[in-house]
Amino acid sequence: MTTSPSPTAPIGAFDSGVGGLSVLRAIQAQLPHEDLLYVADQAHVPYGPRGLQEVQRLSEGVAEFLMSQGVKLIVIPCNTASAAALHALRAQYPGFPFVGMEPAVKPAAEHTTTGVVGVLATPTTFDGELYASVVERFGGGVTLLQDACPGLVAEIEAGQADGAEAERILRAALEPMLAQGLDTVVLGCTHYPFAFETIRRIVGDEVRLIDPAPAIARRVAALLDAAGLRNPGPAGITRYLTSGDPAAMQARVAELLGQQVTVQGLRWAAGQLQPVEN
Ligand code: DGL
Repeated sequence: MTTSPSPTAPIGAFDSGVGGLSVLRAIQAQLPHEDLLYVADQAHVPYGPRGLQEVQRLSEGVAEFLMSQGVKLIVIPCNTASAAALHALRAQYPGFPFVGMEPAVKPAAEHTTTGVVGVLATPTTFDGELYASVVERFGGGVTLLQDACPGLVAEIEAGQADGAEAERILRAALEPMLAQGLDTVVLGCTHYPFAFETIRRIVGDEVRLIDPAPAIARRVAALLDAAGLRNPGPAGITRYLTSGDPAAMQARVAELLGQQVTVQGLRWAAGQLQPVEN
């Protein structure tokens, strides 16, 4: 970046769909004066089965769009996009602040008493270097049981996080883990906190569920403070954009966050995201 960003510039955030809203709501709560720009790349949801290369290309396209909108920091509330693109984005834009995510194996390993931890994340997240690195650094002495919950992201995108199919997918993942003594579950995909009630129903009250959203919001706050980039202005505004169907996204934002918003459309053209004129 050649010009230094202004504290009043927005923070950019993106995910394949509505999952990142589970982190966005924590950022809205912790940083109420910040303007936010949230992009859901719903033309390509789910990212999870697409593989590292394709998700990297898509993530770079979304990040470029956010930069063109003048954001001062980009948070990637998507484990899959972070796995595929965080290193590449930091290399391409040295000095620009990015906050990414990785499955929260560290706190899980610190808190488990049975030594059996379940990690729910996407196939691309499991394939990435970030996951390999957290397992190597923090997974020693702990049994990590992994499941990619195929189909669960689509259920949550469809507003069915509490539906029979979501419950079937989660039972198939979690019941074998419970049989092995699971006492901690890492929600390693930002869509999954929206299935919290379903997961709780399956595992019961004694199993710890780790949602990293508050920690990610704290990290964003710390980076803004370190760079002198906190917005001193009045209450912030969040703009929502999607490369999918704006009306469907509007309905999800209302259901999941209780916010009545207008979602703006985006479309991909030659690898670039562009606003759709309303
Ligand atoms: N919410 C995302 C994640 O945290 C992506 C899920 C998907 O699109 O497959 O991994």
